[in-house]
Amino acid sequence: MARVLTGTQSSGRQHLGNILGAIKPAIELSKDPSNESFLFIADLHALTTIKDGKLIAENTHATASAWLAMGLDTDKTVFYRQSDVTEVCELSWILNCFTPYPMLENAHSFKDKSANLADVNAGLFTYPVLMASDILLYDAQIVPVGKDQKQHIEMTRDIAGAFNHRFPDTFVIPDARIQESIMTIPGTDGRKMSKSYNNYIDIFLPDKELRKKVMSIITGSQSLEEPKDPDTCNVFKIYSLLVSEEETLALRNLYLGGNFGFGTAKQMLFDKILSLFAVEREVFNHYFEHPELVDAELKKGAEKAKKVAQPILTKVRKCLGLN
Ligand code: ADP
Ligand code: TRP
Repeated sequence: MARVLTGTQSSGRQHLGNILGAIKPAIELSKDPSNESFLFIADLHALTTIKDGKLIAENTHATASAWLAMGLDTDKTVFYRQSDVTEVCELSWILNCFTPYPMLENAHSFKDKSANLADVNAGLFTYPVLMASDILLYDAQIVPVGKDQKQHIEMTRDIAGAFNHRFPDTFVIPDARIQESIMTIPGTDGRKMSKSYNNYIDIFLPDKELRKKVMSIITGSQSLEEPKDPDTCNVFKIYSLLVSEEETLALRNLYLGGNFGFGTAKQMLFDKILSLFAVEREVFNHYFEHPELVDAELKKGAEKAKKVAQPILTKVRKCLGLN
């Protein structure tokens, strides 16, 4: 039995990149009966960049609806909101006192964020410690994340190691599960699809808005008649990530054959998203329109999560003479 744990920040709506890169693979892992999955919405981490309570609540709601729409089974997993298990804040303070300052100073994500954001707060700086607490509070063994999170998991291992050095066998040392095969999904402008670049496709948008977003994908400017290179086209790249090899090949041939315009390719991509995610879009809307259902699921998850978290925090408190 392996305990798998991962979280996504509620700093915005979940897009195609988050879904293919993080949500779907985590749900697949949770279906393996030999795994026990803890999946959560990191709303406390979202506070590092968003201060609007209404927006955080809305994003948390949309993020949870996206997870549920993609097929998460809340009876077989522990699905919760980070801020509902307040034990994580206490552990975070304790672990702050075991984290060398230079380790945080050298974090890539902090260097990157502090160079690009106007609000450089202490929460951004100690972000990795809260993340370590998310993981260590549940004795997680495997943490599936994107490549960008690798350093955070290494820090978690170092922090746990520092604590265990003084108080042997307290924390389980987790391993990152980074799927190299999961490519970076390109956004509408060809850069990595990301909430921070506003180049993302939210597959749960109403038809008209979704079509507009797909139509905004930047393409070449060749005339209709000219043959086109599929390998340099963002529409082709996104389409090929969604369909079989056969369908990819069929579209490749249309590009190479000429008399095939980018507008038609975009329409094909839009139709594909609609048909491929028809059920998920409906389920999303159902949850999104019924916040009380989402809250009930998250509450159920928080109760299960607390049962695991509390004895681990008690053990830590005992080590430190806090009981
Ligand atoms: P964003 O860049 O939109 O803010 P996050 O940093 O919240 O995304 O990432 C949440 C999860 O989704 C991470 O595990 C990350 O690796 C994954 N992810 C984000 N964008 C992409 C993408 N374009 N392609 C593949 N995976 C992605
Ligand atoms: N930092 C992660 C991200 O931006 C989200 C996250 C917070 C997380 N706590 C975590 C991921 C614990 C895995 C485990 O994607």
